[in-house]
Amino acid sequence: MGGSKIMNKPIRIKLDENENPYGFPKEIFEKVAREMDSDYIARYTKAPTKEVSDALIDYIKETARVNFIDGEWITVSAGADDAIKLLMELRPERVVLFPPTYFYYYYFVKGLKLNYEEFPLIDDLYIPEVELKEGDMVFLPNPNNPTGHLFKDEEILKLLESPATVVIDEAYFEFSWKTSVKFLKDHKNLVIIRTFSKAFAFAGQRFGYIIAHPEMIEKVNSVKGDYNVPSFVMKLAVKALRNRSLFLGKIKEIEMERLRMAEELENLGLKPFPSQTNFLYFKVKNAEEIKDKLSEMGIYVRVLWDGIRVSIGKKEENDAFIEALKEILG
Ligand SMILES: Cc1ncc(COP(=O)(O)O)c(C=O)c1O
Repeated sequence: MGGSKIMNKPIRIKLDENENPYGFPKEIFEKVAREMDSDYIARYTKAPTKEVSDALIDYIKETARVNFIDGEWITVSAGADDAIKLLMELRPERVVLFPPTYFYYYYFVKGLKLNYEEFPLIDDLYIPEVELKEGDMVFLPNPNNPTGHLFKDEEILKLLESPATVVIDEAYFEFSWKTSVKFLKDHKNLVIIRTFSKAFAFAGQRFGYIIAHPEMIEKVNSVKGDYNVPSFVMKLAVKALRNRSLFLGKIKEIEMERLRMAEELENLGLKPFPSQTNFLYFKVKNAEEIKDKLSEMGIYVRVLWDGIRVSIGKKEENDAFIEALKEILG
């Protein structure tokens, strides 16, 4: 692997996958491991367990201020990517995407050989007018990835008024606290997906969930299999939810760092998009070249469409990125 070296130690600053830079709290992990019964590890465990389902319902109700959600309205997946794949396995007639968008949608669409159509966002920000039909499945991250911005409720409602299935991917929910859960009651065609990979520092453990009308949950459950999430991961998710203040404090730090980084980028003459996530995105000439130079210096970012997406890391990682960028841009 490339990268610069300080005292023979390669620098590897990972700002390319929007992971949580603070790691998963060791005390929670150890507590769950200690409490695990060896028989529980050995047995098949139907997912979701009642315990994780109840914990998720409480969390959803509390954060969306609704009371109609119960166990029939949710199911679990091995991360949000697995949720995306499960939904696509229902084989919609057409997948509708609004680029720039989450690049993995393309991966599954192509892998599953689904028919898809793209309608670019206006100015990379606003959902264009599109005629949606029954049999369509729209995928929209909110906040968006890679731009990081939030779509307005009115834009989402417009999609929901169509006969299409509308999947709102709230992978970064905990950085905006804006959710479409409130629309579920009146819109059977809405599906919401979430993940523990970001705010809950769970990326390597693979845990996500789907919130939708019971009829849609039944359809997803018909393709997901009973044991799609490990029992240990479900226990870990319950503990993370019960100790959520530990994670939410770190989100504040990430937000402060994001504001600081945005200012630093502006000082370099760049224009980061308004972000409500744990990353920033800006358009720049020669994005690929800049990415390669950063990577030679041991700093990893992503080029998506013609811009650079950089995750918010710890303060010293962000400083290293800004310093390197200054050097590259001269
Ligand atoms: C918009 C969006 N959806 C889904 C995911 C996938 O998350 P997970 O790690 O839960 O599969 C990501 C991860 O970066 C994402 O940005």
